[in-house]
Amino acid sequence: MNIKQIARRIVIEEFGLKAADDSTFGNLVTEFQMRLGLDDDAMRAALASNPVLRRDLASLLSVGESFFLRCGEHEACLVGHVERLLRQGGRPVIWSAGCARGEEPYSIAMVLTERLGAGLRERVMIVGTDVDGRSLETAREGVYGSWSFRGVGYEVLHKYFRPCDGGHRVSDELLGWPRFQHLSIQEHLATLGPGTVDVVLFRNVAIYLTEPALHAIHDGLSRVLVPGGLLLQAVTDPAPSRERWSRQSGGPHGVYVHQPDGRHGRKPLDGALAGSEFAAPVSQVRPLLRQGLESTRSRTARCASGRTRAGKPDASSAAVQSDECRSDPQEILSMMQKARNLANAGRVSDAVELVSGVLRCHPHVREAYVLRGQLHLHDGNSDESIKDLRSALFISPADVITRYWYSVALERAGWSDRAAAQRMVIEDALSGRVDEHLLEDGETTVSDMRGLILSRKGALP
Ligand SMILES: C[S@@+](CC[C@H](N)C(=O)[O-])C[C@H]1O[C@@H](n2cnc3c(N)ncnc32)[C@H](O)[C@@H]1O
Repeated sequence: MNIKQIARRIVIEEFGLKAADDSTFGNLVTEFQMRLGLDDDAMRAALASNPVLRRDLASLLSVGESFFLRCGEHEACLVGHVERLLRQGGRPVIWSAGCARGEEPYSIAMVLTERLGAGLRERVMIVGTDVDGRSLETAREGVYGSWSFRGVGYEVLHKYFRPCDGGHRVSDELLGWPRFQHLSIQEHLATLGPGTVDVVLFRNVAIYLTEPALHAIHDGLSRVLVPGGLLLQAVTDPAPSRERWSRQSGGPHGVYVHQPDGRHGRKPLDGALAGSEFAAPVSQVRPLLRQGLESTRSRTARCASGRTRAGKPDASSAAVQSDECRSDPQEILSMMQKARNLANAGRVSDAVELVSGVLRCHPHVREAYVLRGQLHLHDGNSDESIKDLRSALFISPADVITRYWYSVALERAGWSDRAAAQRMVIEDALSGRVDEHLLEDGETTVSDMRGLILSRKGALP
């Protein structure tokens, strides 16, 4: 066999990659060989004996493209899952399979820190693997150029990165938390014991793989993931077999729960829909991170009045920036928590005032509208509640939980028909979703929501 044939065999058989047509692949191999400065015999020997070289050969066939905070739905889901495991005393293991330059593992570290607090690196293991050795050097160094930050707001950049030559470096708080290993997914799978991983991010890699390789990897993931563990794939990635995975997301978000023996984990109804009405929704981290993006786009929008008469958040009616509005995401989170605490202590009007302050400065924090809407509802002020919940839905129309609260507020205001119409929208949104799929708060399941809708059908306005 000549070098190109050997190389082709390696990338297909060992790494499961779709090799491009002969001439394109041949050119890549020739370039690779020239870069190494090896003649055919030396190249043949190196390919036979050097696994690092074989991985780098494999990396020629894919693009190490990635960016920070790439999928908010996945991040919210992951945070909810990890939070539950931590509450149960677990030490979650998260694997970014095909992590490229590390944006994905660092994003995990960021959202966990943002939502669950600092100091988790001892309790949550984050591992990133890739065949591309050069990408992993960048990952270990933690220095990124602006393209990796598209979609990331100023506050995130400021909080988790430091300017340096060549771009921005990951802060000391996060650097060293994700561990990077120069291994193919297949190699890493072979090193892992059964049921040793809690979450796998296998995103935007499957497109490079042959069908048999993809099947083998899904089988391998099923072996190493704990029952109930999460597999996160990109919208464009082929779904794993339904026998062992249940689809978590009704939308095209590629969240799968590992159910090796068809068991469906059931979590009790809690969070914002159970006794503690003012509990923090798990999904609140993302909109807060987006604040940064908002502020870079339009600094002057920070002190916008909150919303228009139609209940629509209004960034255009920006006022001047004031001291009151210089809060960072962490401060907003803590103000929201303070408002919940006040509400839970019975000081509902103080809580409303606090949330109103947040909204005056940050008119795009959906959770603030939801919380204030709930507070108004609690106070019997259905009209104000309706306005706030409508604002929240304007920001995020697909949010089932907000729509549920909206239907409750409509019902309380005497709009039974409109409440019923909203419930129908929710039922439509839930149709086709599996019972165990978690909704936006990362805790309430589709089945919980179906039960609530059913119970509200019989509720008096
Ligand atoms: C498009 S990037 C995806 C990065 C990240 N997962 C994301 O979604 O942002 C694909 C990465 O998968 C890696 N890759 C492809 N096949 C692989 C394999 N068999 N084992 C490990 N990594 C692989 C490539 O080197 C590349 O860095």
